[in-house]
Amino acid sequence: MNDEFSMAAVEFPDPFRLLIRETAASTNDELRILAEGGASEGLVLLALDQTAGRGRRGAAWFSAPGESLAFSILLRPDEPKALWPRLSLAAGISVAEAVESFGPATGIKWPNDVWIGRRKVAGILVEADRDFAIIGIGLNVNSTAFPKEIAEIATSVRLETGMEHLRLEVLAAIIRSFARHSRQIGGDFDHLLDLIRQRCVLTGHCVSFGSTSGPRQGWVEGIAPGGELLLRTEAGLERLMQADEVRILC
Ligand code: BTN
Repeated sequence: MNDEFSMAAVEFPDPFRLLIRETAASTNDELRILAEGGASEGLVLLALDQTAGRGRRGAAWFSAPGESLAFSILLRPDEPKALWPRLSLAAGISVAEAVESFGPATGIKWPNDVWIGRRKVAGILVEADRDFAIIGIGLNVNSTAFPKEIAEIATSVRLETGMEHLRLEVLAAIIRSFARHSRQIGGDFDHLLDLIRQRCVLTGHCVSFGSTSGPRQGWVEGIAPGGELLLRTEAGLERLMQADEVRILC
């Protein structure tokens, strides 16, 4: 096992615990199998080498082995299922806070991409089943180079701080933060929303977004009380659900 991930110095809050795989195609898919087999809430599955990571909207997710974090968290929330999409926001703010604890200020590109400046440092893929949710997180920790398709839009904590970081410490910071924020999707959601609003990189920008009738444009006015994106369009004030892709135009 990779020395960097020896558990000696790091404790996870209850019920979170770490399971490490040398290699996995996708930690979301591997954790789903464990969840279907009855694994209890709080299991965190991390792959040292994730070979076929999945992103949102069917995109591939690149994780540099030995440099990045690719892991998934199993939850069995008590809250009504309609509130589970809020776990995306809880995960986004948890990653943002953890990254900030190592120095750089972060932004959140709603719903849950974590940015440093105008570059993406982390992506989150939440997948829900009947009685569990899997929160998959990919974070560029010590990467210094990226595939050419994302080289212009990606960054890492190392590139932004000029220092290497222990990935286990970064992971533990995320889990500590997520242990708090994942409980805020029901009560105290306003507090979670405030943290997102403070970091929302879309507010005040003109954006394009996908819709059933094709691409449309609007001005982002902020985040609605339910966590949706508030957009001023030619049709008036609209609320965008979390599945939709948004691009900054100006
Ligand atoms: C995105 O920004 O499109 C979401 C990327 C999510 C990537 C993570 S890496 C760990 C987990 N396993 C996966 O296959 N995907 C998520």
